[in-house]
Amino acid sequence: MKFELHHASGPAGPRTGTVHTPHGSFPTPAFMTVGTQGTVKGVTPEQVRATGAGILLGNTYHLLLRPGPELLERAGGLHRFMRWDGPILTDSGGFQVFSLGHINRIGEDGVVFKNPLNGDLVDLTPERSIATQHAIGGDILMAFDDCPPAGGDDPAAARERSKLAMERTHRWLDRCVAFHRGRGRDGRQALFGIVQGGTDEGDRAACVEAVCSHDLPGYAIGGVAVGEDTAAIDRIVAHTAPLMPADKPRYLMGVGYPRDIVAAVRSGVDLFDCVLPTRHGRSGHAFTAAGALKLKNAPFREDFAVLEDACDCPACVGGYTRAYLHHLVKCGEILGGVLLTLHNLRLYQRLMADLRATIPGGRWDAFFSRWPCAIGPEEG
Ligand code: GUN
Ligand code: ZN
Repeated sequence: MKFELHHASGPAGPRTGTVHTPHGSFPTPAFMTVGTQGTVKGVTPEQVRATGAGILLGNTYHLLLRPGPELLERAGGLHRFMRWDGPILTDSGGFQVFSLGHINRIGEDGVVFKNPLNGDLVDLTPERSIATQHAIGGDILMAFDDCPPAGGDDPAAARERSKLAMERTHRWLDRCVAFHRGRGRDGRQALFGIVQGGTDEGDRAACVEAVCSHDLPGYAIGGVAVGEDTAAIDRIVAHTAPLMPADKPRYLMGVGYPRDIVAAVRSGVDLFDCVLPTRHGRSGHAFTAAGALKLKNAPFREDFAVLEDACDCPACVGGYTRAYLHHLVKCGEILGGVLLTLHNLRLYQRLMADLRATIPGGRWDAFFSRWPCAIGPEEG
């Protein structure tokens, strides 16, 4: 993997670049489409490609449990298995074991959790996460990290837990790096480190120092959007991103709404992923440049406009009206979820393309007039 920086507006400002991987290149800032189980729910890889997606994200947690690394290896890796020949990034399972529950025990060695499919206990360690990611065959692998939920009722306990998570994340990173060395498709898979540290700026700086002491091809900001408010997300990202090496891609994990992405891009973040465009699409929500539409609502019953006149997605170009989408969503018809997923994914890619076009000239007023959804504090 190679990162080529094209334009940078100073150490703390927005950047444009290109990430080159063994499965092709894509421009940054980039939004990575989530394909948790080896599929972007409801749409084919050809349709995903047509939204403008340059890279997909897969999840070690899910693919380890089913179909499992042995089958994926026999299939020739996830690229071949799912018929996506572009770049793939895999998350390590670190975040999913913590966010999906079923945890049995967290210890220094790793996490033991209950397989929700059959009740068996599964041992996930840094080494097993990396070995599974090698079998999946993604182009970018993520380190196995400890990502506790934000806050809680007892600030002292939360602080203690966050400290432990940071230190453990650093020890686990050492093990991921050691295990990955010399393995992984003849060195063609790139391992990224993850910066934790919660909402404390000093902790974030200490994590950047520890994680970036390893010379890795890229680094991520984790532990964001785990329950904090929008202002805290903005503050932590604006503080952390500029501390990270300028010549490596910076990836903000699991974020977010268009406004969160725009704010983070302006703080120097290059890569994003989020389930929002797909998950919201399946639940009947359309993102638009002016804000989100909840198509189930009564006003859309007789709204014979398309979602957005300016959109070139299959739903808008195809002339499928808001009234028809309202009907599909009300009936629970899967076509509603498919069309909204395609529209939302295309909207996110149009947003990223406009960000990439805006960064060199810095005409942000004009950008925000095209994307009013990115102005407000947050948007549902
Ligand atoms: N996805 C969203 N946040 C995180 C995080 O902190 N760690 C990992 N591994 N994945 C994430
Ligand atoms: Zn559209």
